Amino acid sequence: ENEVLQQRIEAVRQELGDELLILGHHYQQDEVIEHTDLRGDSYQLSEMAAKSQACRTIVFCGVHFMAETADILANRPDRIEARDGRRVDVLLPDMAAGCSMADMAAIAQVEAAWADMSEVIDTEQVIPVTYINSAASLKAFCGRNGGIVCTSSNARAVLEWAFERGQRVFFFPDQHLGRNTALTMDITEEQMPVWDPYALEMGGNTDEQIKSSRVILWKGHCSVHQMFRAEHVDRFRKEHPGIKILVHPECPREVNDIADVSGSTGKIIQTVKNSPAGTKWAIGTELHLVNRLKDEHPEQEIHFLSPVVCMCATMYRIDLTHLCWTLENLRDGRLVNQIRVDEETTKWSLIALERMLAVK
Ligand code: 13P
Ligand code: SF4
Repeated sequence: ENEVLQQRIEAVRQELGDELLILGHHYQQDEVIEHTDLRGDSYQLSEMAAKSQACRTIVFCGVHFMAETADILANRPDRIEARDGRRVDVLLPDMAAGCSMADMAAIAQVEAAWADMSEVIDTEQVIPVTYINSAASLKAFCGRNGGIVCTSSNARAVLEWAFERGQRVFFFPDQHLGRNTALTMDITEEQMPVWDPYALEMGGNTDEQIKSSRVILWKGHCSVHQMFRAEHVDRFRKEHPGIKILVHPECPREVNDIADVSGSTGKIIQTVKNSPAGTKWAIGTELHLVNRLKDEHPEQEIHFLSPVVCMCATMYRIDLTHLCWTLENLRDGRLVNQIRVDEETTKWSLIALERMLAVK
């Protein structure tokens, strides 16, 4: 059955040629990755969308916020002009491919938090930073309020950008990426109160905690990466002397602090690629990527850091059936599952995204 789907997908790719660009995130399953034109981490994928020129349609094998970002960046006013007024349509093969972390911060909650904190601190001096894993409305909030977007590959540079412009940072939705990054900048855990959107007052903090903060962290996390534990690291080090621990910064602090290397999916891949044969790794990120690295690097010894399965169920929703259905509809002139961000949200989120793309 898979073979038939593969052939049907390839037939549409052949037929549509350069009009079609299939992008895939590194967490996609192998059978989907095989049909992508380009793959990358979140930052690389946004750059690819921002540079897209020849294609008419981007089919995004990833999750909802990535497709939204692609729609915004592929349809920047200068891009549309360069294509003589033509937009690029972005399709997400399964609309249920969301991100549970992105869903942990709703725009109404972020606005309420901002209003609450403005009672005790000057929010003119707070730079809002949203992780790219967030709805476009949150990126727009950052655009409107002097803020910026970051990914796991540029979080440190983005925080430096923010501290050149304000006294404090309000970081959402991933507390772990925010904390792990700020800790590398001489900011202490005590200076990073966590804002719980469900707390009755001041996100569950005292006024004093907010006043003495440097980074206010949103109480959000990735359900996949929070499953990695410090005891997993200890066990591998004990049982496999010389092993190196490579993790994603969405992992909790206890894991990130003791790892040998921490970085985006792009950096994880690069780190393994650049290592000599015989290197031993235990890797703490999504299962499909770790399994692919195992297959691609038989000359190294690669282990999955957790004894339990940590996979992203929403990334996994994109499969051959959904991809084939999306492509065949496209070939027949029907746009299914189009992701289109409204004009107002696009305008403001683009400001925050372009600030990010300009940070080196
Ligand atoms: P990166 O690919 O940017 O490292 O992001 C990881 C992730 O969790 C995407 O949802
Ligand atoms: Fe969201 Fe985590 Fe899945 Fe990435 S791995 S899409 S952060 S739930």
